[in-house]
Amino acid sequence: GNQVRRHVRGGSDLTKCATDAKEAHSTITMVKTDDAGIRLKNVFAAPLKDVGDFVAPVHPKSDQDALYISTALADNFVFASLAPAEKVTLVKAFERKTAKAGTTLITQGETGDYFYILQAGQVAFIVDGVKVGVATEGKSFGDLALLYDSPRAATCKAVEDCTLWRVDQKTFRKILASTAIASSNETRDVLKKVPFLTDLNVTDLNKIVDALTEVHYKPSEVIFKRGDVGDVFYIVKEGKVKVHDIEVGGVKYDDSEYGPGDYFGERAIIT
Ligand code: CMP
Repeated sequence: GNQVRRHVRGGSDLTKCATDAKEAHSTITMVKTDDAGIRLKNVFAAPLKDVGDFVAPVHPKSDQDALYISTALADNFVFASLAPAEKVTLVKAFERKTAKAGTTLITQGETGDYFYILQAGQVAFIVDGVKVGVATEGKSFGDLALLYDSPRAATCKAVEDCTLWRVDQKTFRKILASTAIASSNETRDVLKKVPFLTDLNVTDLNKIVDALTEVHYKPSEVIFKRGDVGDVFYIVKEGKVKVHDIEVGGVKYDDSEYGPGDYFGERAIIT
């Protein structure tokens, strides 16, 4: 939906896509990569596993705080496919945490324990001793190790006094895993329809299945525009996607339409 759109940056600079107003809602499956390729590497590292019977903790919070958390989650592609009820459970499970300037919240190389949302303050990301970025208000971090059973990919340090929300690994994984397992068989069937993936063996296909997130668009909603930075590969699962405003090397092309099994944004993963 709406919030997800901010992450949905297409893989091609030549298309402007919108779902066809006359058609039913489109369901699109996407793979997210990022500039450094770090997420991609981790995304392909390990599948989500079920963590058995588990009741998510409930940390009482004001409606305002709950809204803050759900808005921040909408900004993280990992949560794009969560059903509304699961999102509510997840929001309830977050607990408030404060950290003084200078506190190390996450240490590179360690095992993951919490996923964080930063509500106030600033957090620096440090990889191999080099500062590679910062998180400001509303941003989240600490998802990679929790999702993929990989060591923490960066050190995260409070550079100002911070107020954060955090959720433990078990809750994070349990909620995401239930969604992932339910949809993986279905997703595999969709992927089998993509021509350039037909030669992949089962193991590689499964890795892609694990990297996919389902996103929904309403009729006429724009998926991405020509010129947007491309880091997402899409496969149409249901519905129709219209591609217009196509121009390559100064040559304009006719509009076209994508249906189930069609894909776009592949340049994002190929290049
Ligand atoms: P995780 O590996 O669990 O813990 C460190 C977190 O830092 C990581 O998840 C990401 O959420 C975040 N992060 C931000 N920038 C980077 C980066 N360039 N490389 C790796 N992790 C990063």
